[in-house]
Amino acid sequence: MVQEKTCVVTGCAGFVGSHLCEALLRDGHHVVGVDNFFSGYRKNMKSFLTHPRFVFYEKDIRDKELVSFLFREHPFLSVFFHLAAIVSVPYSLSHAQETLDVNYSSSLQLYEGAMRNGVGSFVFAGSAAEYGDTKTLPVAEDDLTDDVRQSSPYGRAKYLLSHHIESTNFGSSLRFFNIYGPRQDPSSPYSGVISKFIDMGRSGDALTIFGDGRQTRDFIYVQDVVQAYLRAAGISKEEQQPLKGVYNVGTGRENSICSLAELIKSMTGNSRQCVFLPERQGDIRYSVANVSKFKNSTHFLPEVPLRQGLQDLLNWPEA
Ligand code: UD1
Repeated sequence: MVQEKTCVVTGCAGFVGSHLCEALLRDGHHVVGVDNFFSGYRKNMKSFLTHPRFVFYEKDIRDKELVSFLFREHPFLSVFFHLAAIVSVPYSLSHAQETLDVNYSSSLQLYEGAMRNGVGSFVFAGSAAEYGDTKTLPVAEDDLTDDVRQSSPYGRAKYLLSHHIESTNFGSSLRFFNIYGPRQDPSSPYSGVISKFIDMGRSGDALTIFGDGRQTRDFIYVQDVVQAYLRAAGISKEEQQPLKGVYNVGTGRENSICSLAELIKSMTGNSRQCVFLPERQGDIRYSVANVSKFKNSTHFLPEVPLRQGLQDLLNWPEA
């Protein structure tokens, strides 16, 4: 039995945030959603926008009054999921200051405000990009030290807040590896490689590979990510205590971009040769999670194998 809570989800109109809201509402919680539609869409909230336990505020997390507004309107807020962010690594390279403002300074303001107002748990969307171009694989939380240079302002900003959360000993930061699933928009420059490859595969276009395609990623399905959020907040059936500190959330399995392209080509019946384009600036080369810490703390391991996740994505009615 999970006790009913009032939860804030910043970034509720985003790809991951919308799935998290659905799960929280399904579990009987009240959800206060915040989004400014920078990279989220109203259509992502279609299934829950009018839900009686959901309330939405179109607001920017840079708004200095946001925390006091939320606690004034909802005095019983007890769980804070902070997902709102500039989510694109390439965008962050050309908008470094804006990325630091949103993903670090304003996020820090939310974190401190939530803590001051006595929330029981705070879960921050950290990122594998915090590790930069690491040589240690699979990479563990302790492999990241202060002298590591992240490859992008995106990775840097995420690291700064994760590090602060860890040293404050309140709340948790989940360092997600590459998330995929329904509602990840293939048409935006902020989209992940899987949504793009599925789109290209289906439309019969050649899949575009940046660099030599031997770079690797650890792909985790969005429903597994939602489970990780619930456990980190201590509001899942299995986990009733909020986590503290920084945790990797991935599958621990490494896939090259070339092998991903071949798999998606075969699943979509696309026989075109891939097109190789120059390597993308700011990209990390290899990325795979050591998942022991999260697994030991929560007994949770992602359940959806890549092929099954891709099949679910191909079958998704709204895709
Ligand atoms: C992603 C996330 C980022 C997260 C990080 C964790 C997205 C959009 N970004 O960045 O938020 O913090 O993982 O490590 O999900 N690629 C191609 N062809 C394409 C598109 C991409 O070859 O058409 C390649 C890229 O060059 C890259 C790899 O695929 O090497 C993955 O790219 P992408 O899905 O954009 O994710 P990351 O850059 O890893």
